[in-house]
Amino acid sequence: MDQDFFAYLQCCKDRIDQRLPELLGQVQSEYGDAQAHLQRTFDACLYSLTNGGKRVRATLVYATAQALGQTDSEDLDRVAGAVEMLHAYSLVHDDLPAMDNDVLRRGKPTCHIAFDEATAILVGDALQSRAFELLTTLSATKPQTTLEIIKELASAAGARGMVGGQAIDLASVDKQLDLATLQCMHQLKTGALIRGAIAMAAHWSDANEHQRQALDDYGKAIGLAFQVQDDILDIESNTETLGKTQGADLALNKPTYPSLLGLEGARDLAKTLHQQSLDALVNFGPQADTLRGLADYIVTRQH
Ligand code: IPE
Ligand code: IPE
Ligand code: MG
Ligand code: MG
Ligand code: MG
Repeated sequence: MDQDFFAYLQCCKDRIDQRLPELLGQVQSEYGDAQAHLQRTFDACLYSLTNGGKRVRATLVYATAQALGQTDSEDLDRVAGAVEMLHAYSLVHDDLPAMDNDVLRRGKPTCHIAFDEATAILVGDALQSRAFELLTTLSATKPQTTLEIIKELASAAGARGMVGGQAIDLASVDKQLDLATLQCMHQLKTGALIRGAIAMAAHWSDANEHQRQALDDYGKAIGLAFQVQDDILDIESNTETLGKTQGADLALNKPTYPSLLGLEGARDLAKTLHQQSLDALVNFGPQADTLRGLADYIVTRQH
């Protein structure tokens, strides 16, 4: 990973951070006395969305379009914004008392602590709906392509994707899973949205079948690697660097890769997945170097 990669990452992060408030929108001033309640919900959405995420999923959208030789477009901000909204919703709900019961996220109090639990539930609902609404405003795509993009996000987010993975996660507390079940849980709860972000950008870029398959192989590998590294960092890192409570998995007795394979085994798996993701890009030229850089970053990141 060179300086250029980190400059690109920062550039994507700045770009989407700047666009997200506008993509979320503001409450209209036509609601009289109800305005204050709506404003509070919008404030909580903004709080949860624009609080310093790494924006890996947004960067994957931009980098996939770049790998496919696309010229830049504001549409990509909408695709990236939709993915980050969906992701932010998943984090707000993941932190709720009924789920991981976390108090710290991205270095700040979680949504239900800063606001309240009911508001945090509504924030998740609102961010999710807004993500889909945003995708209906794409301007450079044919209607059929827009539908494909919406379908990718819906299946990545739903019970066959992120929600399904979260359900397995919650049912697995205090249990030791076998490797196949753990892999399924991680692929769904975290891998699906990462894979979905890449697939959405591939559709937007009119990728051919071969390109889509190769990018999906890449996404599948780095999506799983992302959660393997998340599990490793839960053990190795510290709360300040992570911006979320270190040791949360251990405290809740969650099955993780390190708990099943040991830290070394988990690190080896991350390396294998990293190599798989690079192998998947073998037919792409230097335009895919940012995707390669992201694969490196995902398994070496410290937060
Ligand atoms: C955290 O995701 C939750 C997982 C899916 C592992 P990120 O590590 O991408 O969180 P942010 O967006 O940078 O805060
Ligand atoms: C969360 O996994 C995956 C999501 C769908 C949000 P974790 O519960 O491990 O994520 P963190 O560690 O709280 O960010
Ligand atoms: Mg969780
Ligand atoms: Mg959690
Ligand atoms: Mg975690």
